[in-house]
Amino acid sequence: MNMNREEIIAALSPDKDPAELFALADKVRRENVGDAVHLRGLIEFSNHCRRRCYYCGIRAGNARVRRYRLSPEQILDCARTAVRLNYKTIVMQSGEDPHYDPKALASILEAVKTETGLAITLSVGEHSREDYKLLRAAGADRFLLRFETSDRRLFSMLKPDSDYDTRFRCLAWLKEAGFQVGSGVMSGLPGQSLESMADDILLFKELELDMVGIGPFIANPDTPMAGAHNGTLEAALRMVALTRIVTVNTHIPATTAMGSIDPKGRQKALRCGANVLMPNISPAEHRSDYSLYPGKICVSEAPEDCAGCMDAMLKNLGRARAEGFGHSLKSIEASPR
Ligand code: SAM
Ligand code: FES
Repeated sequence: MNMNREEIIAALSPDKDPAELFALADKVRRENVGDAVHLRGLIEFSNHCRRRCYYCGIRAGNARVRRYRLSPEQILDCARTAVRLNYKTIVMQSGEDPHYDPKALASILEAVKTETGLAITLSVGEHSREDYKLLRAAGADRFLLRFETSDRRLFSMLKPDSDYDTRFRCLAWLKEAGFQVGSGVMSGLPGQSLESMADDILLFKELELDMVGIGPFIANPDTPMAGAHNGTLEAALRMVALTRIVTVNTHIPATTAMGSIDPKGRQKALRCGANVLMPNISPAEHRSDYSLYPGKICVSEAPEDCAGCMDAMLKNLGRARAEGFGHSLKSIEASPR
């Protein structure tokens, strides 16, 4: 559905009652992606990172983080857990960890794919064009790389050792390599304007993304952004709703960050445009160390607990788990559905 920049800015304004916007987004979601919700098992396999993003708790140099890295066998074990819990996709996420370079990752991907046949999403940051091709050939189907904000000035303040144009070049390379591509932003960043949030949403559409993730910014006390104001759930929900309306059939998760700032955050997101959940299946002993922001939910639960919690949540909403891999509804190069 087309909305121009002015209309999007007006709908993002905190002065406007969001009820109508949320109802429209729920309708667009129901008509275009259905009632079923895709469960993607999240494996946070390393919290080592070479970058120093100002907002991120696992940034290099944060001495308060207990660093860990799962072994290939532990990652494979997590994938087996996903199979047991009847998840069809795993999301392998980490900091930009030089130990797990694309060659090392490729051999893990091959092992996981051969044994489990699961769909695999990667979220491992910026790499070269050739390395993205290697990861795709090794069996990864999808890739998440948030551009974090469309505001060039804000981006360079928040990510002092990254380059705005390179981030978007990576998104183009991912698409060229045949990945189903996801991107996204944080909402409520200090200094983020309604205009730039509207530009984020217009960019989601222009980039023809398969998946869009939006989460509220949550200030981490162990980062340079300690003490900054957090984003609100409502601003994040407005962005989810507008993204659904404007991009129509993208996969949009009800994110962990939403559930972390409001106990009903994910349920609310599922009722205004979201159609994906990402239950954590990382080993219990490391969960609290993947500490992007304070108050992160699901750090003491076992994978089975999260699965039960998700099913109860869906039942309560009158929704059900999706069957099948939940590949892109846009991409033509997707693996068999
Ligand atoms: N290293 C990869 C990358 O940067 O694309 C993937 C992992 S990164 C930790 C995953 C996402 O966490 C980021 O894209 C960012 O949006 C989110 N994140 C990090 N710190 C956050 C914070 N303080 N509040 C909310 N989201 C945060
Ligand atoms: Fe790791 Fe930003 S701190 S990618």
